[in-house]
Amino acid sequence: LGGPEWEVLLGRRDSTTASLSEANSDIPSPASDLSTLISAFVKKGLSTNDLVALSGGHTIGQARCSTFRTRIYNETNINPLFANSLKSNCPSVGGDNNLSPFDFQTPVVFDNEYYNSLVNSNGLLHSDQQLFNNGSTDSQVSSYVTNSDNFFADFVSAIQNMGAISPLTGGQGEIRLNCRVIN
Ligand code: HEM
Repeated sequence: LGGPEWEVLLGRRDSTTASLSEANSDIPSPASDLSTLISAFVKKGLSTNDLVALSGGHTIGQARCSTFRTRIYNETNINPLFANSLKSNCPSVGGDNNLSPFDFQTPVVFDNEYYNSLVNSNGLLHSDQQLFNNGSTDSQVSSYVTNSDNFFADFVSAIQNMGAISPLTGGQGEIRLNCRVIN
């Protein structure tokens, strides 16, 4: 995929529980506005700078139609050509699980093209476009468009911060034999 490398700390163990209510309260939805995204990250000890850098993870991967339908049909801060290009694969009714890439220019390369899409109003999720919507984070997005080394350096720092959010260590949790299910 390309992209930067970083050291991943060892000794981090898997949880034996999961919480639907905590996931719903602590993980920001794709319909979130900038202030909600910022406060969700701050709640976990991550800065606004971390939010913008980590969102660059959307340089790869795809999202389901149900997560961006409202944006492509109803929002005005979206490039109309981009919105129209998504509609055949994401009709106004049905096709909820049809996928579109976040970064349609280079969907399988870890680069700064995600930020370029934001400045061109080609953000896929409402939450993506919030990072460049005449707000406090516009300048950081613009800086990543012109300097991908900056993005890579900030991404490494931010993902190390994110990885340090209360990991289970020692005798806590377990090491899963199948990473998708508890032992
Ligand atoms: C800022 C808040 C974030 C929101 C609101 C958000 C939202 C989403 C949504 C809605 C999807 C699509 C899920 C689906 O359709 O089932 C997604 C996928 C993805 N997200 Fe995020 N995300 C956020 C932050 C992050 C971060 C911090 C990373 C990593 C550093 C990340 C990496 C990814 C990747 C790689 C995918 C694609 C997964 C795949 O293709 O299987 N996202 N995100």
